[in-house]
Amino acid sequence: MIEKRIKRIFSNVSEEMGAILIYNGPEPHQDVNFFYVTDLTKGLFEASAVVIYPDGKGTIITSKLEEESARKSPMEVEIFSTRKDFKRILKDALDVDGNIGVNFADMPHSAYRKFKYMAKGKRFVDVSEALEKTRMIKDKVEIERIRKAGKIATDALKAMISQLKEGMKEYEAAALLIYEMMRRGATGPAFETISSFGENSAEPHYTSGERELGKGDYALFDFGARFERYNSDITRTFVMGKADKKHREIYEIVREAQQAGIDAIKEGVNGKEVDAEARKVIEKAGYGDRFIHSLGHGLGLKVHDGGGLSPNIDMELSENMVLTVEPGIYIPGFGGVRIEDDVLVKKNKAELLTEFPKELTEL
Ligand code: GLY
Ligand code: MN
Ligand code: MN
Repeated sequence: MIEKRIKRIFSNVSEEMGAILIYNGPEPHQDVNFFYVTDLTKGLFEASAVVIYPDGKGTIITSKLEEESARKSPMEVEIFSTRKDFKRILKDALDVDGNIGVNFADMPHSAYRKFKYMAKGKRFVDVSEALEKTRMIKDKVEIERIRKAGKIATDALKAMISQLKEGMKEYEAAALLIYEMMRRGATGPAFETISSFGENSAEPHYTSGERELGKGDYALFDFGARFERYNSDITRTFVMGKADKKHREIYEIVREAQQAGIDAIKEGVNGKEVDAEARKVIEKAGYGDRFIHSLGHGLGLKVHDGGGLSPNIDMELSENMVLTVEPGIYIPGFGGVRIEDDVLVKKNKAELLTEFPKELTEL
């Protein structure tokens, strides 16, 4: 599995490369590619590196802090104690013919300068696009991890809404969601949980605050679980108490738009067309200017894992891509509705990885 991933990365690089160096820095400069090529699901691996080669092999260079975890990898492992050690091991690992690929998208400039100094005379070439392109097509292990992250999230949502009460603050509901995910095996939330009530639901990337849940409020939850480093990303919008006509009208348009998007997904279709199918539904209903973001994005080791369903992204869908489908309508001062699911692209359809009812639910 690891060898396959590494060989695919090299096949996506446009020029010949002697090796690729991936550096997982200290927070917040982590590089998911380190975990993609090592498949290490446990450990922080701060200030560790992995050097991979065109034959699918690689060397993990890490400290004693994660030696046990590192040795679970089938890759060669080199443990360093001092900076001098690290430099010597890295220099040896990069002693190959040809250029060295690096991930300019996630490598801090300070680290890049140090590596350039350690590997004097080597030319470093950006391979960030090849890494992203490779990760966009998921293998079986990755798909099952995302599916599990989706199941944890939907089970947690069920458990959380049964505890929701009038007067509960947004951040209390968010805390419950995170608790319910972690007690089901998530290592944490996939990203900062969005829990927004009433008029606050009109802001797609709202930060949960003290707003209390009241009758006649939308209650929007956009959240996900992280499981073995893979993420889910789901949104559901409910109504507290009785839904009125406007709540229902907006909700049903978004639901129809999401279904149109999901129905349009299959291998070979362009992401732009999928976005257009969903957007058309919202535009026809007269809310085109209130759908203020793209329809979806790639999902995996990163929450935004490359590519997307967007009028601005020219991307042909391939089998085994995992994408979100998340249309929304946002009315400032009133509230917003977003419905988001994660799907796996198949030859002739999209397979849902997050299953949770979509009929408008009054809490
Ligand atoms: N939670 C951010 C997103 O759905 O993309
Ligand atoms: Mn989301
Ligand atoms: Mn999303």
